Amino acid sequence: KRVAILISGGGSNMLALVASMTGDHPARPVLVASNDPAAMGLARAQGLGIATAAVDHRPFKGDRVAFEAALLEPVLAAEPDILCLAGFMRVLTPGFVARFEGRMLNIHPSLLPKYPGLHTHQRALDAGDAEAGCTVHQVTAVLDDGPMLGQARVPVLPGDTADALSQRVLMQEHRLYPACLRRFADGQAAPLFL
Ligand code: GRF
Repeated sequence: KRVAILISGGGSNMLALVASMTGDHPARPVLVASNDPAAMGLARAQGLGIATAAVDHRPFKGDRVAFEAALLEPVLAAEPDILCLAGFMRVLTPGFVARFEGRMLNIHPSLLPKYPGLHTHQRALDAGDAEAGCTVHQVTAVLDDGPMLGQARVPVLPGDTADALSQRVLMQEHRLYPACLRRFADGQAAPLFL
């Protein structure tokens, strides 16, 4: 299975996914693409010998369809079987999603359905939650929705800041996402709870 990974920043989740696709794993990374040409994850992917592409979303000034048409070019050229959004910070239109629905995954740093959208860790702290975590789900036209493939939970600790909590959750993202991708590539539908 050919996997393309979309990133916007450091790409730590992309690195974890790439590191997991070895040996008897049925998937291999074929492209890392970003909406930010300066994304550190692009240089890290290149260092691993993975093809990369960057389409800066800013010149498209909110014309999402035009940006996505440009992004689709390298993505389709890579002929991916599976698309993984990993720290990808652009909302995708239903038209883009429709092209990959059922084979597009995302990781979101909250225990969905709680806290879709941004600032998830601060919202969990403000709510006084005892636990936080991350969710891998199939991407649908509804933001941070879609069939769940897995979740990992972490405790919220006294004195936690959003930064401390995000680092604790990120560690679990790097465990959960590779495990969910492997199961998805193996055709296993049951969600995974770590
Ligand atoms: C992190 O906040 C992570 O929780 C979310 O995307 C952000 C960047 O992740 N999934 P990455 O290091 O670029 O994978």
